[in-house]
Amino acid sequence: MRILFVGDIVGRSGRAILLERLPKLIAEWKLDFVALNGENAAGGFGITEAIYQEFVDAGADVITGGNHSWDQKEALVFIERAPKLLRPINFPPGTPGRGVALIDARNGARVLVVNAMGRIFMEALDDPFAAVERELAACPLKRAADAVIVDIHCEPTPSSSTSIARPPARSRRWASIATAAPAWWSAPTPTCRPPTTRSCRAAPPSCPTSA
Ligand SMILES: [Fe+2]
Repeated sequence: MRILFVGDIVGRSGRAILLERLPKLIAEWKLDFVALNGENAAGGFGITEAIYQEFVDAGADVITGGNHSWDQKEALVFIERAPKLLRPINFPPGTPGRGVALIDARNGARVLVVNAMGRIFMEALDDPFAAVERELAACPLKRAADAVIVDIHCEPTPSSSTSIARPPARSRRWASIATAAPAWWSAPTPTCRPPTTRSCRAAPPSCPTSA
């Protein structure tokens, strides 16, 4: 499975190069799934609905956020009608939008994407590790998801060092991608197919659950 993650896309120049090159990359590299970070896409601060739509039209399958998710106030509203736009999952309950989505890739695989934010030198949010663990347990790899992407937006390594992979020191953003052997990509269980672009919590009763 071929996954491309691009971020941060910053301002007009970042958008221009992405929009120019992404469609060609998808074709040339035969990409199955494209994840972008777009929280700095509008002049370095937030994302607008027009920019979100441009990214989707260019081939983005999901667009993640971070501490700048709400810099453009319209994002608080349009995120509700933007199923491919995520904001950190560990914002308090009641925050608009969603921090997790299960999205169909071009090859038919189900990709679980979780967006979270660290708390050191950043806003005091809920525990990101507990939030991510909850979603991974609710949508287990190989059973309900064929691939998992975790985008954690954080400042120093202590807030990310217990995660799936160790990022470089002072890494501001990193993404962990977990995939399984191709054998089960080609043989998904048809009765276990939660709705796309939503959490696995809505999985039908026939869907096997994790131990
Ligand atoms: Fe940020």
